[in-house]
Amino acid sequence: MAPSTWCFIFGLIPNAAKAADEKEEVLRTQVAIIGAGPAGMFLAHLLRAEGIEAVVIERQTRDYVEGRVRAGVLEQITVSMMEALGLSARMRREGLVHNGINIAVEGEPFRIDFAALTGGSTVMVYGQQEVMRDLFDAAGPRGIDIVWQAEKVTPHDITGDRPFVTWQKDGVETRLDCDFIAGCDGYHGVSRGAMPSSVLKTFERVYPFGWLGLLADVPPADEELVYAKHSRGFALASMRSPTRSRYYIQCSLDEKLEDWPDDRFWDEACLRLGPTVAAKVTRGPSFEKSIAPLRSSVCEPMRHGRLFLAGDAAHIVPPTGAKGLNLAVSDVTMLAEALVAYYRTNSAHALDGYSARALARVWKAERFSWWYTSLTHLFADMDDFSRRIQAAELDYIRTSPVAQRSLAENYVGLPLS
Ligand code: APR
Ligand code: PHB
Repeated sequence: MAPSTWCFIFGLIPNAAKAADEKEEVLRTQVAIIGAGPAGMFLAHLLRAEGIEAVVIERQTRDYVEGRVRAGVLEQITVSMMEALGLSARMRREGLVHNGINIAVEGEPFRIDFAALTGGSTVMVYGQQEVMRDLFDAAGPRGIDIVWQAEKVTPHDITGDRPFVTWQKDGVETRLDCDFIAGCDGYHGVSRGAMPSSVLKTFERVYPFGWLGLLADVPPADEELVYAKHSRGFALASMRSPTRSRYYIQCSLDEKLEDWPDDRFWDEACLRLGPTVAAKVTRGPSFEKSIAPLRSSVCEPMRHGRLFLAGDAAHIVPPTGAKGLNLAVSDVTMLAEALVAYYRTNSAHALDGYSARALARVWKAERFSWWYTSLTHLFADMDDFSRRIQAAELDYIRTSPVAQRSLAENYVGLPLS
């Protein structure tokens, strides 16, 4: 623990209710960050780089957080952030720069050339697991404090001048006094729930299907991702490296994994991707298979008193646009800027503007993720008119550089404004 961060008073909080052998400690920092996912860890690094003290409190182990299989398509802002933080060496060696994507409609692929359509913008394929490893590996040497396996993490007094966070670990109750709390604890965290329901408004769209995903150590079907709209449902051929592939197929929410042996999965994915792509698919045994529901959700505002929400704690996108990690990065970029402005100039102006600024970008990514999902998935309640409209829109995108440009600029990521 960095002594600058930890003002360590052991057992000094008077608490008549505590038994004599119960231990309690009080610590102090500037920013308490709840959650060590991408939002929490990028924020911790950004603040550390500016000399602002922070402590990250995480309820899981490092192995658990790092091991979660998530998408890994990095927008330019995320790539630039890794570079600015001095975390990009392995990404530059192992990441795959993609200049475009393919969209297959009823088995016929066409390409969207991001670089040509956007004046050179690209995305980087580098798994979230790798990003997390880089963030965690650098945390220790940089003196970033992370409390792992903290139980009953609770934010307190968020509307007062002296908020604090408490948790329990190894029989010790800890209280962390701070200036601000960053709620970076994802969709199932505690932070959002600390905001009164009279303040919080949630906007939500739940999709009536999920994605069945498979990971296998086989070469990818194509150099770039292939998104497939098919009358049997959506499919995606993605990758982690030149030797590791990630495939998804749209499935019903009550699907059982045991009903999807690898052979059945590969057959279905190949049907939906179509013969041109299927001819390049290398099949192999899966080492991970899972079903994930799809949801769009935004809560407003992203700040209450001295509690600031960032990342999945405030919003969820369906994975179709690969925006989850990148939105977490744009939120914490704005939050870190506002906190730095506060500590440098003693002005709360940027902190006051954080929620509106972040939400403006969040909603555009929500719109894109919802639109791209609607464009490429099969909806049970679609009538013939809706199917024709969906087909017409896909054909418009296939044939119109103007339509392609809009898709491309959203996929590579809108600028931070
Ligand atoms: N106390 C402490 N930590 C918590 C608590 C809690 N009560 N609840 C959740 N956490 C931790 C989780 O264990 C997780 O490590 O907060 C972290 C939140 O991380 P993510 O869910 O990854 O959310 P975020 O950092 O906003 O990143 C968003 O990452 O996982 C993807 O799909 C996600 O792409 C999206 C992006
Ligand atoms: C993935 O590789 O897991 C992935 C890629 C792109 C997406 C979603 C997931 O849109």
